[in-house]
Amino acid sequence: MTATYLTSVFQPGIFDNKIVFCTGGAGTICRRQVEALVILGANAVIVGRKKEVTEKAAAEIQQLRNGCKVIGLSVDVRDYKALQEAVARSVEEFGKIDYVICGAAGNFLADFRHLSSNAFKSVVDIDLLGSYNTVKAAQDQLIQNKGTVIFVSATLHYYGVPFQSHVGAAKAGIDALSNALAVELGPFGVRFNCIAPGPIDGTEGISRLLPKGMKERARKLVPLQRFGTIDDVANATVFLFSPASSFITGATIVVDGAAWHTGQQIALPYPESILDSDELGFASPSKSKL
Ligand code: COA
Repeated sequence: MTATYLTSVFQPGIFDNKIVFCTGGAGTICRRQVEALVILGANAVIVGRKKEVTEKAAAEIQQLRNGCKVIGLSVDVRDYKALQEAVARSVEEFGKIDYVICGAAGNFLADFRHLSSNAFKSVVDIDLLGSYNTVKAAQDQLIQNKGTVIFVSATLHYYGVPFQSHVGAAKAGIDALSNALAVELGPFGVRFNCIAPGPIDGTEGISRLLPKGMKERARKLVPLQRFGTIDDVANATVFLFSPASSFITGATIVVDGAAWHTGQQIALPYPESILDSDELGFASPSKSKL
């Protein structure tokens, strides 16, 4: 009995015969989540907007374990019909779906004064509506297989983070969706949880969204004094899909080294950065349309 706890953290084969369906699966964080599951036995379908990028990522992930199968499908998560077709294709290929990761997201820094209505809508549509569309399209499979869903959320809405009103609003909606679905579909045996990554090294969040010259300051603002790694997020993912979390649903695991507790997620001086935001270079490309 005790011996089962004295092995390595994750057992090879714990996800044998499991099928994961992941949106945004060619992106840095979600790709690593899928890779971890595949290495531990799962087969996978990854969904992304760019056909070539998605298919290439799928082919590369498939190399990670002998005999595994990973397919890449080109779908915009804002297109519900396309997601239904992707789910049908996955079931045709693998017979079922056990796990869903809603990871497709859009982000850019924009101060509210220059954020257009369409820009706000684009992010809410990709992040929140796209997450809804994904679960909705997969609901029969999730209920049939007592599946598990992970939403990739954020910590931006835990307090007011400037230049991220669009993303914070979308992610707050995702958290609400996850909680409600945990209650509504719990009786069917389906679990819903969120992972909220903080600053994760090697991602667009660090390379594109962190203002220039701010990397070292941002790192020091993480209480653990390092950025997260994509493996940190993948480890939380493995836990949440594994039987070790079988009584955990409607929860959020924050993977951020306690960064959000410092209340300084943009690492820029406040309020100067707001008052000078015209100079920061991330105003909307379509100011004229506002
Ligand atoms: N700042 C402010 N507004 C922006 C913007 C930016 N950096 N980038 C896009 N927008 C606005 C556009 O101007 C447009 O609004 P408008 O019609 O008022 O001009 C609106 O957002 C939609 O932009 P568009 O590029 O047509 O939308 P899309 O649906 O093709 O893509 C994103 C939306 C968010 C995916 C796109 O902006 C993008 O490619 N972002 C970078 C990649 C990314 O987000 N990756 C996710 C990893 S974090």
